[in-house]
Amino acid sequence: MVGVEAFRITGGKKLMGEIRADGSKNSSLPVFMATLMEKGTYTLKNVPDLKDIKTSIELLVSLGLTVERISEHGYRIINNGLKTLTAEYEIVKKMRASFLAMGAILAYAAKADVSLPGGCNIGLRPVDLHLKGFEALGVKYRIVNGYVEAAAKKGLTGGGVILDMPSVGATENIMMAAAKARGLTVIENAAREPEIEDLADFLNKMGAKIRGAGTSTVIIEGVKKLTPCEHTIISDRIVAETYIVLAALFDGDIIVNGVNREHLNGFLLKLEEMGLKYRITRNSMKILSKLSDLSPVDIVTMPHPGFPTDIQAPMMTLLSLIRGKSEIKETIFENRFMHVAELNRMGAQITVDGDLAKITGVREFSGANVMASDLRAGAALVLAALKARGTSVINRIYHVDRGYERLEKKLKKLGAEIERIKLEL
Ligand code: EPZ
Repeated sequence: MVGVEAFRITGGKKLMGEIRADGSKNSSLPVFMATLMEKGTYTLKNVPDLKDIKTSIELLVSLGLTVERISEHGYRIINNGLKTLTAEYEIVKKMRASFLAMGAILAYAAKADVSLPGGCNIGLRPVDLHLKGFEALGVKYRIVNGYVEAAAKKGLTGGGVILDMPSVGATENIMMAAAKARGLTVIENAAREPEIEDLADFLNKMGAKIRGAGTSTVIIEGVKKLTPCEHTIISDRIVAETYIVLAALFDGDIIVNGVNREHLNGFLLKLEEMGLKYRITRNSMKILSKLSDLSPVDIVTMPHPGFPTDIQAPMMTLLSLIRGKSEIKETIFENRFMHVAELNRMGAQITVDGDLAKITGVREFSGANVMASDLRAGAALVLAALKARGTSVINRIYHVDRGYERLEKKLKKLGAEIERIKLEL
């Protein structure tokens, strides 16, 4: 039987206890790619156990690296030299972040052939800014049979890059290539996400000279050689935010661990505007308000430190259960409202006009069969199903598995009625 996995969730149970956000997926992916940059042995800790990490490992192995799992969240990566400079379509198509191999391979060999990733469910997601950045470092490229064939014949040279928009991936890719380029690179209008700082920390531990990561101007003084190192990945801010939304839905009977407050500012500001009271002690957050205390709010998704696009869908689940009218404007991706129709099937009242979703709060959701269209849309549907009256089946949870480690086990521990089932295709 060919099947696809789904969650069957019976909602309305009282959830309480503690839940932890693991290491950041979006930090781990570029750091894994950065192990291509220099020969030697790397140790990475606090890596989440997720499908995207397995895909990264597959990519590293296809390029000649050895990856050993040394603990539940730890890996040893051995780079004895790349056996090929080609990142194949078969792997890149599974995960767009594979394109980050390009900056790393260029840093290693001043030459790389990397498959173009193509679009995805949330938008076109071009890589033009990555390529313009590489060009500024002396790289010439052409696109042949779906691959970017790139080389800097005289080696990479530092240069000035002004990004048209603060792209996370472009900033990371250019930072890696520039770390071993000759001379100085300045990236302006760089993305400021915490994952960029984490990558820069990792590279600086290896001996790179990167300043300003986490601000909109990143300055990279190229070095000839790096030295592999050990690094602990930061905790996943989007997973933490998803669990905070869960806690808000359940009147604060859930404590969220693995919270790094500094990374959550844009999100927390909106929760505060909604009237949410909370306490953060060390890395644990306890919500002190009830769902019924919260007011509607208007949100615009923005690059960091603004409100993250990645928590937009789970936030819509929360706003759907708050009396009054809220709005969410999505400015980062052109197709990131696919969860709206599914939430409406569960009783939400949301209309979409272009990039604007208008949400009218409802008293409750009712269980339904729904489909996850991407990772965060899937998380939004899981949250809705946990609150819904009756049973829901959320199909295509392979999306959810890309970003939330052992979600059903964690939710079961809180008292949820959730099981993983296989549906026939
Ligand atoms: C990263 O994607 C994250 N992925 C995404 O996480 C996240 O949604 C996104 O940043 C925005 O925060 C990883 O870190 C692996 P961008 P990335 O380049 O780097 C446009 C998740 O659920 N753009 O900052 O691909 C692009 O189309 C996800 O974990 C260009 O036009 O995002 C988008 O509109 C999904 N040309 C905007 O910039 C380019 O060359 C921001 O994209 C590059 C991007």
